[in-house]
Amino acid sequence: MAILARDDWYDLTRTTNWTASYVSEDELFPEEMSGARGIPASAWETYDEPYKTSYPEYVEIQREKDAGTYSIKAALERDAFVDKADPGWVSTMQAHYGAIPLGEYLATIGEARMARFSKAPGNRNMATFGMMDENRHSQLQLFFPHANIKRSVKWDWAHKGLRTNEWAAVAARSAFDDMVSSRDAISTAIMLTFAFETGFTNMQFLGLAADAAETGDHTFASLISSIQTDESRHSQQGGPALEILIENGKKDEAQQLIDVAIWRSWKLFSVLTGPIMDYYTPVESRKLSFKEFMQEWIVAQFERQLLDMGLNKPWYWDTFMRDLEITHHGMHMGVWYWRPTVWWDPAAGVSPEEREWLEEKYPGWNKRWGRVWDVITDNLLNGREELTLPETLPLICNMCNIPITHIPGDDWEIKDWQYEHEGRLYHFGSEPDLWCFKIDPDRYKGHLTIVDRFLAGLIQPANLEGALQYMGLTPEEMGRDAHMYAWVEKFRQAKAAAA
Ligand SMILES: [Fe+2]
Ligand SMILES: [Fe+2]
Repeated sequence: MAILARDDWYDLTRTTNWTASYVSEDELFPEEMSGARGIPASAWETYDEPYKTSYPEYVEIQREKDAGTYSIKAALERDAFVDKADPGWVSTMQAHYGAIPLGEYLATIGEARMARFSKAPGNRNMATFGMMDENRHSQLQLFFPHANIKRSVKWDWAHKGLRTNEWAAVAARSAFDDMVSSRDAISTAIMLTFAFETGFTNMQFLGLAADAAETGDHTFASLISSIQTDESRHSQQGGPALEILIENGKKDEAQQLIDVAIWRSWKLFSVLTGPIMDYYTPVESRKLSFKEFMQEWIVAQFERQLLDMGLNKPWYWDTFMRDLEITHHGMHMGVWYWRPTVWWDPAAGVSPEEREWLEEKYPGWNKRWGRVWDVITDNLLNGREELTLPETLPLICNMCNIPITHIPGDDWEIKDWQYEHEGRLYHFGSEPDLWCFKIDPDRYKGHLTIVDRFLAGLIQPANLEGALQYMGLTPEEMGRDAHMYAWVEKFRQAKAAAA
């Protein structure tokens, strides 16, 4: 029997829609789950995904990908790369694994929402594959770190992290819930696949894969490149949904969803990926700076795509461009200083040669952040470690759940964007964070940041120790300086040599 080529049957089979007779169309596709926005089914049937695959093709390719990644892991296991790796790189992996695998699981829910409720048949079809993709990503990224639990319990945060009230976990859950698991199908297609996956996961997975290959971590490099091949397929679900919204007079709504999702993703990446790329990864293994990765993967990518579609750059683009130079340096300093509150060991990344790199990539770094690190370095050189450890909690943004930071020193212009709503005073780290809240206060108003919970008496005893317990951090899980201050000794030697 002759087998038809995929092109000959694909459009017909995947566009199969039916007219519901036992229930109304609204019962089958409730608006709050579907997000069709009054656009008729006939318009949604024109949805045309750029990447097409069939189930047999999908299964075959995925099987090959899994086989490749698992066999590299097995082959390199005896090599025990982790035992030889720079502690900064180990921290990079521990931070990644604690934040990402269960976020992938949440993405399964987002894909499932589209697979069931999107009125676009092509979207439902692709999301079914996307759902299986995300399940694979969770499984891989739970399994790979598991092999290292014998080395440190910190690797177990792949499973544990997102289930705790650790502050970075709260921030990640808040952003993922907002973009991935609590929206209608079409909003999910735009926020999760178009805004988050097109640019940001590309950067985390391809950018980090490049750094991993440079450090010699071929297991991690192959794992995350394998995941990214799925992402680059299913991230294409957002584009055709956007086209239908624009054609049907919903451009402003579409633009708003994109603007919220890009901003929320950016803030999360500024605290997770920024420090990893510019401070934890050994300096000789850094392919590009975080800013350069952002410019290549996010700025160029979105500017081109948005303008091609007839959309605009988000209104806060100038603020975003300025913050690319700033935000993650403040986040890094905060994470390092509050190191007992994270499950990985932050690498300071400010030895003399690292500071040279930072100054080269971010002219003015020494004048801005270097002067604060000078004080920290001086305290450590003089045996005053206690002055480099936290006793209080920082001011946290009510939208992104991460600290409100800015440039220290001469360029200091920090602002707490305050907003009162229904008798409660909210604090935001930036104008776009406040803007996200104002669009839909009911969605966000009930959430308590870690600091709100502390002030509400939910964290007992009401001190740093109580907060660490609340965050689920045991003493062996709490972060310490990744290199146990070995970098400080380089300053001592330099001083001695100069004397
Ligand atoms: Fe994924
Ligand atoms: Fe994905």
